[in-house]
Amino acid sequence: MRIKDILRTERLGEHVTVKGWVRTRRNSAQVTFVELNDGSCMSNLQLVFDSGLLEGLNIGTGTAVEASGLLVESPAPKQPVELRGETLSIIGETASDYPLQKKRHSLEFLRDIAHLRPRANTFGAVFRIRNILAQAVHRFFHERGFLYLNAPIITTSDCEGAGEMFHVTNFNLDDPPRDPKGAVAWDRDFFGKPAALTVSGQLEAEIFATSLGNCYTFGPTFRAENSNTSRHLAEFWMIEPEIAFADLSDDMDLAEEFIRALIRATLDEGMEDLEFFDQRIQKGLIDMLKRLADASFTRITYTDAIAELEKAGDRFEFKPYWGADLQSEHERYLTEEVYDGPVFVTDYPKDIKAFYMRVNDDDKTVAAMDCLIPRVGEIIGGSQREERYDVLLKRIQDLGLVEADYWWYLDLRRYGSIPHAGFGLGFERMVQFVTGMANIRDVIPFPRTPGNAAF
Ligand code: 4AD
Repeated sequence: MRIKDILRTERLGEHVTVKGWVRTRRNSAQVTFVELNDGSCMSNLQLVFDSGLLEGLNIGTGTAVEASGLLVESPAPKQPVELRGETLSIIGETASDYPLQKKRHSLEFLRDIAHLRPRANTFGAVFRIRNILAQAVHRFFHERGFLYLNAPIITTSDCEGAGEMFHVTNFNLDDPPRDPKGAVAWDRDFFGKPAALTVSGQLEAEIFATSLGNCYTFGPTFRAENSNTSRHLAEFWMIEPEIAFADLSDDMDLAEEFIRALIRATLDEGMEDLEFFDQRIQKGLIDMLKRLADASFTRITYTDAIAELEKAGDRFEFKPYWGADLQSEHERYLTEEVYDGPVFVTDYPKDIKAFYMRVNDDDKTVAAMDCLIPRVGEIIGGSQREERYDVLLKRIQDLGLVEADYWWYLDLRRYGSIPHAGFGLGFERMVQFVTGMANIRDVIPFPRTPGNAAF
C-alpha cells in the first residue's frame, strides 16, 4: 500500500506491506524506529521493529526497503498510526555518501542534484502540487467542452515575432551545405527551410478554434531569450486556450475563472503540502489562496496603469511612460500595492505588442490583456485576435514580417473569419504562485536556463 492511503484511511489492525526510502533510523535499547517515505505524501510512516529483527541490516538514510507488519495506534501525537514491523527486506542499498542526509539543504545545492531532489520534502511537495494543477487544467477545459489540441513542437513560424527561437537542424554545423554564394543552403536542410522549436501553440490553436470551436493547448514552449531571472525559463509549459466567437472581455472572464479553479483545486487536493509551504516558504500562503479563490480581478487599461505608475514617480528603477512596456517592478507595484490582488491590464500600445492582436478603433492600441498577480507579476498574456483581413495584412507589412510565411494565417481571415480570442498562462509561474517558491527553476523538474541543460 502507499503511505498516503494508509494515513488517510487509518487502517488500524490491518496487515500491510509498504515500499519506500528510509528517511531516518533511530535505535533505542529494544526497538528501532524507521521513518519511511514513499513519495505519495509529505508524511512518513513510522515503522517500529524489535531491534533484534534488523540486526546486521544496513538501513541508512536513502535505502530502499520493503516492510510488512500490523498497523497500530501510535503513541506519538503527530501520527495516527504506525507499523509494528514483522519483516523488512532491503530492495536497494544506499552508499554512505548519500547527499540527502537529515538536515536542511539549500535550494541551490538541491538544484545541482536534480536527480535526487524529488526525494527532499520541498520538491516532493512542489511536484505533487504541479501534478494537481496539471490534472486541474485538463479537467477545467474538458468540463467546459474545450478540445485538447497538441500543437507542433517543431515549427516554421515565429508566433511572437520576437526572433527568440531555437533552431532545429540536422546539418553538420561545422560544414553545412552552402549555395554558390556561400550562404547556408537551408533549402537542403531536413525540413527544406529553417525550422525552430515553437514559442507558442497559439497560431495552430486559432486554426482549430475557427473550425472545431473552443480549444486549448498544454505543452512545452521554448524561448531563446537570455533572461537570467527568477521568472524565466528557456523551456517552459504553457496553457493556451483559444475561444471562438469571443472578444477580449470573454477572454478575461475565462482567464479569471481558470485561475480561480486552479487555486481551488490546489486547496482541495493539496492541503498537506500547502501547509508545508505556508510554514516554510511563504507565511500566510493558504489565507492568501483562500481569499483569491473567490476574488474578482481588477481590470484597468494600460493608459490608466501608466497614470497610476507615474504618480508613484521616483520609486522605480525604470521610469514608466506611455509607450514603454511594463517592467517587472511596475507589474508588482500594481498588483501588490495599488490593487492588492490580480489585475488585468488591457489595451496596450500596438507598437509593443505582437502582429496578431486586434487593432482598437483609436488605431494606437490593441485589444491585448496581461494578467498580473502578486509576487509573480505577469502570469497571463492574451488578446482578441485581428480577424479583419486588410488590417492584419497591413500589420504584417508594417512590422516587416514576411507576408508569404503567414499565407495560411491570412487565409483564416478570407474564409469565414470570426472574432476570436485567447491567452497563454505560464504553467511554472502558476506553480510558483500557489507554492510560494521564489525561483522558477525550483518548480520544473529539470530547468533549462542560459548555460544550463543538465539532466
Ligand atoms: O505573453 P506571452 O509571450 O504570450 C504568448 O505566447 C501568446 N501566444 C499567448 C496566447 O495568447 N495564446 O506568454 C504567455 C505567458 C506569460 O504570461 C508567462 O506567464 C509565460 O507565458 N512565459 C514564460 N514563463 C516562463 N519562462 C519564460 N521565458 C516565459 N515567457 C512567457
